Amino acid sequence: MAQPSITIRTPDDWHLHLRDGDMLKSVLPETSRHFARAIIMPNLVPPVVTKSDAEQYRDRILAVRPEGSDFKPLMTLYLTEGTDPDDLEDAYKSGVVTAAKLYPAGATTNSENGVRNFENIMPVLERMADIGMMMCVHGEVTDADIDIFDREKVFIDRVLDPLRTKLPELKVTMEHITTSDAVDYVASSKGPLAASITTHHLMINRNAILAGGIRPHYYCLPVAKRETHRLALRKAATSNDERYFLGTDSAPHLDENKIDPCGCAGIFTATNTMACLAQVFDDEGALDRLEAFACLNGPKHYGLAVNEGSMTLVKQDTPVEFPDVIKTGEGEVTVFDPMTPIYWDVKA
Ligand code: NCD
Ligand code: ZN
Repeated sequence: MAQPSITIRTPDDWHLHLRDGDMLKSVLPETSRHFARAIIMPNLVPPVVTKSDAEQYRDRILAVRPEGSDFKPLMTLYLTEGTDPDDLEDAYKSGVVTAAKLYPAGATTNSENGVRNFENIMPVLERMADIGMMMCVHGEVTDADIDIFDREKVFIDRVLDPLRTKLPELKVTMEHITTSDAVDYVASSKGPLAASITTHHLMINRNAILAGGIRPHYYCLPVAKRETHRLALRKAATSNDERYFLGTDSAPHLDENKIDPCGCAGIFTATNTMACLAQVFDDEGALDRLEAFACLNGPKHYGLAVNEGSMTLVKQDTPVEFPDVIKTGEGEVTVFDPMTPIYWDVKA
């Protein structure tokens, strides 16, 4: 009997960290092998804040694109309290950038330059609403008195919902949602709002990080929550609701920076994301919905055409082996271990 297989359009990744320099060169092929396009996160050091920064970063990415690849980086600007609305409009209208990213200051890796007082960016957000430019948001408050597991919900209540009430026409992507609260918020909202979900948040809960020993390679932000939240995310992702789509948040860090008394946040999933996702959708009896989640819903939300090419995934008889690490010019980066056998693999 032929092995089960599924053919879908070439997928896109709506949230990706590529970094720069040697790291960029080593991790880019892991994404360009499978994905046609990706929204590239601007949290470099220093961040990508102007049109000129975005053009230069795009060119550095294109310069190390593997031969024969036509992978397209969709660039973003990092919003700061000093962002110039005219430069942002020019960056968007000239096609250099696809979206702008809102990081609350201190929310995650390299977010020190993010926004402290949201009132100060209202003119920029008003301009974005006027020109139809997408705001991608890292939805967590950073107040020291808010428990890290509650930061997403508190952000929705205190920041996002009031902001969307003031500016209902602003297009918003809630990135890497991790809670049933975020799913409920998306489900109940009207207007241009959708959410990306990572592969790893569909596969692990917080026990992966903390039970039976501390495992830094499962630590990312927003941090994985309890099992009920993971189940809500799986339900949303496999629901065929077009407001949910894939954003891997694949975030490479050198192992030495992960395995540290104060290790940094980020899980590197680019290498095995599509295989893991096929397993998730198969386990949920929803393989027929994988294409909507990974290939169709994202372009629709961003107003872009779907990809012409295709990808075939095949189910193997025995678990597929993935590399443990990717070697970079700077050191090794550990690849996400899904903690469960993966039978699916990308074939073409
Ligand atoms: C990301 C990184 O390493 O840049 N880390 C993470 O845990 N996801 C930043 C981010 O997207 O929050
Ligand atoms: Zn990220």
